[in-house]
Amino acid sequence: VFAGPIAFLKSAPDLKFLPDMAVNEVAFAGRSNVGKSSLLNALTNRNGLARTSNTPGRTQELNFFDVGDPLRFRLVDMPGYGYARAPKDMVRKWRFLVNDYLRGRAKLKRTLVLIDSRHGIKDVDTDILDMLDAAAVSYRIVLTKADKVKASHLAEVKQAVAEAIRKRPAAHPDIIATSSEKGMGLPELRAAVLESVTQ
Ligand code: GTP
Ligand code: MG
Repeated sequence: VFAGPIAFLKSAPDLKFLPDMAVNEVAFAGRSNVGKSSLLNALTNRNGLARTSNTPGRTQELNFFDVGDPLRFRLVDMPGYGYARAPKDMVRKWRFLVNDYLRGRAKLKRTLVLIDSRHGIKDVDTDILDMLDAAAVSYRIVLTKADKVKASHLAEVKQAVAEAIRKRPAAHPDIIATSSEKGMGLPELRAAVLESVTQ
C-alpha cells in the first residue's frame, strides 16, 4: 500500500474540521522537531508530503493523509508539543485539540509516539503518555534520528524507554528505532502501521 496512492486529505486546526471516520487511523505524536513529518515522508517514500522544518512548531494542526485508492486507512500528522517558545494560548489550544481527538476518535487504532534517540523520554513526553493511557489509546514508541547516536547509546536509550513504559497500560512493549535520513527501521515501521490498521 505504501507504494500506491497516498494523498493529503485535509488539515484540522480545530475539532469541527475533522474528516469523517471512514477508515482506521494511525497518528504520529511527539515533541516539536522530533521528526514526525520527516518520518511520515520516509515511511511513504514521498518527500514533501508532510511539511518539515528546522523551526519547531511547524505543524500546528492535525493533518490527515489518505492511503490507498480505494481508501485503506489514514495517517495523521499531529502538532508537536514541548516547544519552549510556544505562547501559552497555543499550548492550551494544543491540549484541547489533541485531547479531544484522542478521546473522541473511535477509528484511531494506534498512536506512534516519537522520541528523539539522543534524549529519551522527557517530562513533556510523559505528559502525552499520560493522556494516551487516560484515553485508552494504544500507542507505540518510535525512536527517531537514530543516525545521530552511536549503537551503544541507542541500546541504552531503548532499554531506558522500555523500562519507562513497562507499567503503562496502553503502551505496546516493542520499540522501533528509526532514521528518516538513513532509512533505518522503516520496513519494521511499515509493518507496525499495517498491523495496527488491520486489527
Ligand atoms: P513539528 O512539526 O515542529 O512538530 O516538527 P516535526 O516533529 O514534524 O519534525 P520535522 O519532521 O519537521 O523534522 C525536524 C528536523 O529534524 C528537520 O530539520 C529534519 O530534517 C530533522 N530530522 C528529521 N528526521 C531526521 C533523521 O532521521 N535524522 C536526522 N539526522 N535528522 C532528522
Ligand atoms: Mg511536523
